[in-house]
Amino acid sequence: MTAVRSESPELLASPSSLAFPPGFVWGAASAAYQVEGAADEDGRTPSIWDTFSHTPGRVVNGDTGDIATDHYHRFRDDVRLMRDLNLGSYRFSVSWSRVQPTGRGPAVQRGLDFYRKLVDELLDKGITPFATLYHWDLPQDLEDIGGWTVRETSDRFADYAEMVAEALGDRVPYWTTLNEPWCSAFLGYGSGVHAPGRTAPESALKAAHHLNLAHGRAIGVLRSVLPANARTSITLNLHQVRARTDSAADLDAARRIDAVGNRIFLGPLLGDGYPADLLADTAHVVDWGALVKDGDLAETSRPVDMLGVNYYTPTLVSDGRPGEQGPRHHAHGKSAYSPWPGSEHVAFHLPPGQTTAMQWAVDASGLYDLLTRMHREHPNLPLMVTENGAAYEDYVSPDGTVNDPRRIAYVHSHLTAVHRAIQDGADVRGYFLWSLMDNFEWAYGYSKRFGAVYVDFATQRRVPKRSAHWYASVARANVLPDLPKEDGGF
Ligand code: FCB
Repeated sequence: MTAVRSESPELLASPSSLAFPPGFVWGAASAAYQVEGAADEDGRTPSIWDTFSHTPGRVVNGDTGDIATDHYHRFRDDVRLMRDLNLGSYRFSVSWSRVQPTGRGPAVQRGLDFYRKLVDELLDKGITPFATLYHWDLPQDLEDIGGWTVRETSDRFADYAEMVAEALGDRVPYWTTLNEPWCSAFLGYGSGVHAPGRTAPESALKAAHHLNLAHGRAIGVLRSVLPANARTSITLNLHQVRARTDSAADLDAARRIDAVGNRIFLGPLLGDGYPADLLADTAHVVDWGALVKDGDLAETSRPVDMLGVNYYTPTLVSDGRPGEQGPRHHAHGKSAYSPWPGSEHVAFHLPPGQTTAMQWAVDASGLYDLLTRMHREHPNLPLMVTENGAAYEDYVSPDGTVNDPRRIAYVHSHLTAVHRAIQDGADVRGYFLWSLMDNFEWAYGYSKRFGAVYVDFATQRRVPKRSAHWYASVARANVLPDLPKEDGGF
């Protein structure tokens, strides 16, 4: 493992550098299935992602998370790396089938012990643990009874939340229930490019409601188990939707995507219920009256202490035949129809300008727009950027370093947007880089590198990229310096 060298403080002393509020949290994020490996150790049973990745044709190169970055065995070294990176917080997720194999019954202590040890190691190094209960890895046994398309899965999730909160509640101050339920519902059950790979619009909408319900039930449980000062949240990948023109048809396309991409979660979670336009747009797909039972919306809207926002790229739409260019995460084009129920005639376009290795447009103004919108609509709800980052084609140079100027420029522009949103009143409490290290990027396997730390998957050697050194200096100073000239600054 190579140590992280921090850049000199003089770099930071420019009149145009941006100071962040005192106490701003600088973190990095990961997810269990993407990093842990140890897929069948200590009693863990398969999740939908184990099944999916082992199904030929689902993941690029047939990659799986069986070994991933072997974080399950190397977490102590990884936490040391985080300390060298000056991280204030580490956002990780808990593998449900590791702590409760099959998704029912008692907790497995060996599974919980892994997270206890991880959390203790973090605390020992002064890093605040931020736990996500669910980052897409439903126990396969629950999928076999219907997965997120059935209500029972919401009850199971609340039980699971209780056992994790009881085990870790005394030492984890930040909790998020679900990561990006939109992806679980619409990529898992709509377009099928994510596990469990189902392709039925009605199932996607049912899954969305049951995820909302699972979240609300878990919030109830967390509030009764956790100490009063623990912070609860949910993390959404809000779509910053833009219409290609101001025509009424294009604006309507944007409205539809905002409904099925954003307000389908924001409404029921934050107290406004399901939006009337969404219900009308999707009435031909699902019977909402049967799906949403009396009392459900009181559960889904239990108050949270914070909203986690994940942002990578804006979404540009127009009215028309679905285009070649789907929204991010369905780039494989495996689905023959739009995975967006009620928006079947919306076309997606690649916004102009630079792209990352995911072919996602680089546009930090989308993050500013999202944060300020959330602040306008929910002025008393603190926000955290729980994921932001970029994949590039990184490699180790002959001198042993990884030079990734475009990632530095990407993060710099997005941090500038966060700073501007804060200046304009948004209550943004922290920023988590996606990701700490290169890892299993879902349907893209190991072909896309999002890490600040490079991982040689053959040897598991970690090499902090230049962006890691740069991010470490920003985190230490709580100040964003000018972009270095060699990274595209002036
Ligand atoms: C987000 C996921 C995360 C990672 C990034 C690139 O949608 O939450 O696991 O895949 O995208």
